[in-house]
Amino acid sequence: MEKAFTFFLLTLLLLMANSAMTHTNVTTDQLTLLSLKSQIISGPFHFLNESWSPAASVCHWVGVTCGSRHQRVMSLNLSKMALKGRIPREFGNLSFLVSLDLGSNNFHENLPQEMTRLRRLKFLDLSFNSFRGAIPSWFGILHRLQVINIRNNSFTGSIPYSFFNISTLETLNLNFNSIEGKIPKVIGSLINLRELNLRGNMLIGSIPLSLSNASRLDTLDITFNSLQGNIPEGIGNLHNLKLLGIQDNQLTGSIPFTIFNISRIEVIAFRGNSLSGYLPNGLCNGLPILKGLYLSENKLRGHMPTSLSNCSQLQILSLSENEFDGPIHSEIGSLTNLQVLGLGTNHFTGMFHLINISTIVSYYLRILFYYTLIAGIIPQEIENLVNLVELGVEKNQITGSVPISIFNISSLQILSLA
Ligand SMILES: *[C@@H]1O[C@H](CO)[C@@H](O)[C@H](O)[C@H]1NC(C)=O
Ligand SMILES: *[C@@H]1O[C@H](CO)[C@@H](O)[C@H](O)[C@H]1NC(C)=O
Ligand SMILES: *[C@@H]1O[C@H](CO)[C@@H](O)[C@H](O)[C@H]1NC(C)=O
Ligand SMILES: *[C@@H]1O[C@H](CO)[C@@H](O)[C@H](O)[C@H]1NC(C)=O
Ligand SMILES: *[C@@H]1O[C@H](CO)[C@@H](O)[C@H](O)[C@H]1NC(C)=O
Ligand SMILES: *[C@@H]1O[C@H](CO)[C@@H](O)[C@H](O)[C@H]1NC(C)=O
Ligand SMILES: *[C@@H]1O[C@H](CO)[C@@H](O)[C@H](O)[C@H]1NC(C)=O
Ligand SMILES: *[C@@H]1O[C@H](CO)[C@@H](O)[C@H](O)[C@H]1NC(C)=O
Ligand SMILES: *[C@@H]1O[C@H](CO)[C@@H](O)[C@H](O)[C@H]1NC(C)=O
Ligand SMILES: *[C@@H]1O[C@H](CO)[C@@H](O)[C@H](O)[C@H]1NC(C)=O
Ligand SMILES: *[C@@H]1O[C@H](CO)[C@@H](O)[C@H](O)[C@H]1NC(C)=O
Repeated sequence: MEKAFTFFLLTLLLLMANSAMTHTNVTTDQLTLLSLKSQIISGPFHFLNESWSPAASVCHWVGVTCGSRHQRVMSLNLSKMALKGRIPREFGNLSFLVSLDLGSNNFHENLPQEMTRLRRLKFLDLSFNSFRGAIPSWFGILHRLQVINIRNNSFTGSIPYSFFNISTLETLNLNFNSIEGKIPKVIGSLINLRELNLRGNMLIGSIPLSLSNASRLDTLDITFNSLQGNIPEGIGNLHNLKLLGIQDNQLTGSIPFTIFNISRIEVIAFRGNSLSGYLPNGLCNGLPILKGLYLSENKLRGHMPTSLSNCSQLQILSLSENEFDGPIHSEIGSLTNLQVLGLGTNHFTGMFHLINISTIVSYYLRILFYYTLIAGIIPQEIENLVNLVELGVEKNQITGSVPISIFNISSLQILSLA
């Protein structure tokens, strides 16, 4: 019933859009932008006052680009101009508009429905503004859209099904809004999708299995939502993934090992879920360019993978607050790009290894060994860690005296030995 109504509404909008699209020319474009200017109530008015003057051709106004053939406004870029105001209904008259970038301003209120007339629109960036209201389902009418970026606004409601009719869509960035409901299963039909950013919303339900059909995805970020259930095995089919971020949800079950076969992946960010099970020993053998492995605050157990030295580009290794046990492999010392090593609050045992990565010059190295059961002494060579900022080895069985050389590390700010 609801779907039928939405379809009816969309069809109606489509008809309205068609009838209104007929007689526009460059004069219409100029009047439209003058009406936008009249809605801008604050900002550095001087540039609009000087540049957006009826005396000059609209094609020469700041932020405006016209098509060379038809001399109509094709692109409008007013990003980062500290403009405050709203988009007027007349905006729908810019019928030749292909690219609209209003990012990083203070535009507010709802988007006018007349924007459905922007049938040539391919690029839409409204990020970092204060737009509100339900995410418009009429975006779905704009069949040529490749980029929808509305991050950091106050949009509400659920992700409209009509989005999944935009087969050209490559980027969908809805980060940091107040979007609720489930991630629709039909998302897998967006076969051109490269970036899906849903971070910082109120999404529930599970990660749809169909996502594994969106095989061009290189960025999948659903961090900071309330998603539940398992990570579907099919995610491992997304061979182009560079970033897989599912942090701070309520996901359970074990990590499908197929994920550790995505050879292009650079960041695996799974912190703050309830993931259980083991890590495969060969974890790093299929991940040659991994830079960040964030697994802290889960329920993972077993030993540290023996293959870690093969993640040679690793900068961040965060295993804290899990149930790992066994020794800390000294091979970590061969990870010469490491900046952050978080192993605390686990059940690691064995000797304190000096993670001797003195080659790092321009990065901080943070070692957080909190609450593990490590014995031995802190060796004199600790002074080689010339970029060390924080050393925490509290609640262990470390003995002996603190080598005085530690005070030669000028970057050290936090030393926790309790
Ligand atoms: C645009 O159309 C209006 C009437 O619809 C006309 O008065 C005006 O001269 C036209 N402008 C150009 C530049 O053709
Ligand atoms: C720009 O125009 C507005 C409205 O006409 C006026 O209030 C404002 O003082 C002008 N600002 C500058 C810097 O010229
Ligand atoms: C708009 O302008 C800004 C700053 O000049 C630029 O960074 C941005 O890429 C432009 N947007 C588009 C869509 O070209
Ligand atoms: C421009 O838009 C307004 C409001 O949507 C509409 O009333 C008007 O007819 C449009 N003008 C042209 C020339 O299309
Ligand atoms: C985007 O929103 C998030 C969450 O509210 C906030 O932490 C972040 O600072 C915002 N980004 C910008 C550039 O405003
Ligand atoms: C998608 O487009 C098809 C054909 O144009 C239409 O039948 C269908 O209702 C649309 N779906 C949505 C959710 O808009
Ligand atoms: C992936 O797409 C194929 C072909 O359209 C379809 O048969 C299959 O059910 C889809 N898989 C999922 C998990 O949705
Ligand atoms: C990873 O890829 C290798 C080589 O393609 C294959 O032999 C292995 O079975 C894969 N492992 C997983 C867990 O998918
Ligand atoms: C590192 O990778 C190589 C090549 O895949 C493999 O032969 C070697 O066993 C791996 N090392 C470890 C410690 O797993
Ligand atoms: C630590 O690294 C430095 C520089 O690479 C090297 O000179 C030193 O022998 C190493 N110390 C240990 C204990 O491996
Ligand atoms: C600290 O560095 C100075 C200068 O490099 C050196 O002379 C001194 O022996 C070092 N102190 C310790 C305790 O290692």
